[in-house]
Amino acid sequence: MRIKGKVALVTGGGSGIGAASSHRLAEEGALVVVSDIDADAAKRVADDIMACGFRAEARYQDVTDQEQWQNIVSGIIESHGHLDILVNNAGIALTGSIEDTTLEDWRLVNAVNSEAVFMGTQAAVAVMKGTGGSIINISSIEGLVGDPLIAAYNASKASVRMMTKSAALHCAESGYGIRINSVHPGFIETPMVANGVAALGEENAQAFQERILNSIPMGVMGQPKDIANGILFLASDESAYMTGSELVIDGGFTAH
Ligand SMILES: NC(=O)c1ccc[n+]([C@@H]2O[C@H](COP(=O)([O-])OP(=O)(O)OC[C@H]3O[C@@H](n4cnc5c(N)ncnc54)[C@H](O)[C@@H]3O)[C@@H](O)[C@H]2O)c1
Repeated sequence: MRIKGKVALVTGGGSGIGAASSHRLAEEGALVVVSDIDADAAKRVADDIMACGFRAEARYQDVTDQEQWQNIVSGIIESHGHLDILVNNAGIALTGSIEDTTLEDWRLVNAVNSEAVFMGTQAAVAVMKGTGGSIINISSIEGLVGDPLIAAYNASKASVRMMTKSAALHCAESGYGIRINSVHPGFIETPMVANGVAALGEENAQAFQERILNSIPMGVMGQPKDIANGILFLASDESAYMTGSELVIDGGFTAH
């Protein structure tokens, strides 16, 4: 019960890392609002959590819509009185080098992965000011190192990294008691990665997987729970002296 009595909002909670994090936060005592643009997926995750005897609610939310951010956050305050933890996790990945990424794809990836994290952080800071809280922004190893085939994704995740630091400094200097940190997962076995690999076609997919596994010093891909455990740590008071920092969980990928 490391976060007993806290109220948490996890975006993109219907799948992969968001689903695992919703479970982990609920297991440790939080009431978790699982939001997703896929309302059925959010409901499935919230139902699973409740079936295990923990507390969760499902909400539809498109993180790119600012009005929905105001509504979801004010709804949480009305129903529960406080919001203590926000995990800005919803994200999408589109492949494309600098030569073949369209402006439309660039804007879409940056709207979901970067602009939405800005809007979510802003909405959460507004209601956490009085009580304090922890905001956890999911970036990626792709926010730290480049990849020739994901220009827009690289840019969106690097934006999350630096916006997190600016917001963390502002909140610390303002004495709000709000900590804001970024998490940088490596290759994690989730539908996002599985769909991306499948889109490459059978031959390229096999070559990609071999290349990826060879470049991970620990030799295996990570599991969603590996990231959920890092998110739980940042959500809890165990990380009380951390703000503006980067938690890299990547099997050693960026160590060399
Ligand atoms: N899987 C990895 O290897 C990996 C590595 C580094 C970073 N990440 C990041 O972790 C986060 C979660 O990724 P995942 O691998 O669990 O992906 P996933 O595809 O399994 O889950 C992403 C969830 O986000 C939701 N979503 C997408 N667009 C949305 C929107 N506009 N509004 C609300 N919800 C939306 C999807 O419906 C889905 O449920 C993402 O930000 C991703 O970039 C993943």
